[in-house]
Amino acid sequence: TLPVPNVQSLATSLDKSSQIPERYVRPEAEVNPIARTNEIELPVIDLVKLIDPEFSKEEAAKLHLTCQEWSFFQLVNHGVPEELIEGLKANTLEFFNKPLEEKMVYKQDNDGTLQGYGQAFVLSEEQKLDWCDMFYVMTRPVALRNMKFWPTSPSTFRDNIDRYSLELTKVASCLWQYIATNLGVAPEVFTQLFKDRPQRMRFNYYPPCPEADKVIGISPHSDATGFSILLQINDVQGLQIRKDGEWIAVSALPNAFIVNLGDITEVLSNGIYKSIEHRAMINTQHPRISLVAFHGPDNSLMLRPLPEVVGDGKLNYGSVSYQEFMKALFNKKLEGKSVIEKLKL
Ligand code: SIN
Ligand code: FE2
Repeated sequence: TLPVPNVQSLATSLDKSSQIPERYVRPEAEVNPIARTNEIELPVIDLVKLIDPEFSKEEAAKLHLTCQEWSFFQLVNHGVPEELIEGLKANTLEFFNKPLEEKMVYKQDNDGTLQGYGQAFVLSEEQKLDWCDMFYVMTRPVALRNMKFWPTSPSTFRDNIDRYSLELTKVASCLWQYIATNLGVAPEVFTQLFKDRPQRMRFNYYPPCPEADKVIGISPHSDATGFSILLQINDVQGLQIRKDGEWIAVSALPNAFIVNLGDITEVLSNGIYKSIEHRAMINTQHPRISLVAFHGPDNSLMLRPLPEVVGDGKLNYGSVSYQEFMKALFNKKLEGKSVIEKLKL
């Protein structure tokens, strides 16, 4: 990807009446399509109920419906210790508030993995840029971690990322189990597909912008993963999802995770579940910070609808290796569901 300016520093250099650089200004129709003004609260799935024999059946049925209708939900009672989440939030804020030189120690190098501090998906000088800086690391499998990208300050940051990473794998395997069962697939089939349990984390920093209604924090896209688990680091909302052609602002309960199904799940489920387009918007006053953990399949996956799901029915997607799929994604700018659209039969 091409180097672009640090957005946080750019935002700091602007005052209320400043015009922002043209490269960030989106066509009006792109920023302000009819969006529902009222924020909606996403469906809530309760992990404790999901595993409690007394409530499991009912909660699993709710999960299935939610996956079909929304593919976006809040997960509560997820069991990740609050103390850990609070620590990680504080670390993240402290990291992004450091002077640029200190963060640049961890800057992306062109190793093709996008790991480190920088921006994603910048492929041409003409491309409109997202109003966002990110810090991206591969967290699992542990053997594939590249510790040179892991900040040593704040001193508890590494340890908290490591602990959070492990906690999320427990949440993820539990969710996979119910997703598999809901699709009529043996949980072991999913365990096999996701055996190395790759996990990547993306910390997003969206600075405020004097012309907030002209920029987009992260362009519309669906996630190229099994599912993503999002944690809002501070209390600023900005996430929108596209449902039935309309952009809807969503808000989350404090410390709930926002889970969204990705393209991989869409293909594996033969489209019973669909990944959903989302984007992040900006405001004039407050930075917004979020942390997304992507839970992907094993690198060796041949991506195609699961035969157990298709049965004698119609096959809705072709097949492609996961590696090819990811290559197609990284070789273009972020653009809706364009990569997965090509797989449709
Ligand atoms: C993302 O889609 O990667 C980020 C969304 C958000 O920050 O809410
Ligand atoms: Fe996303």
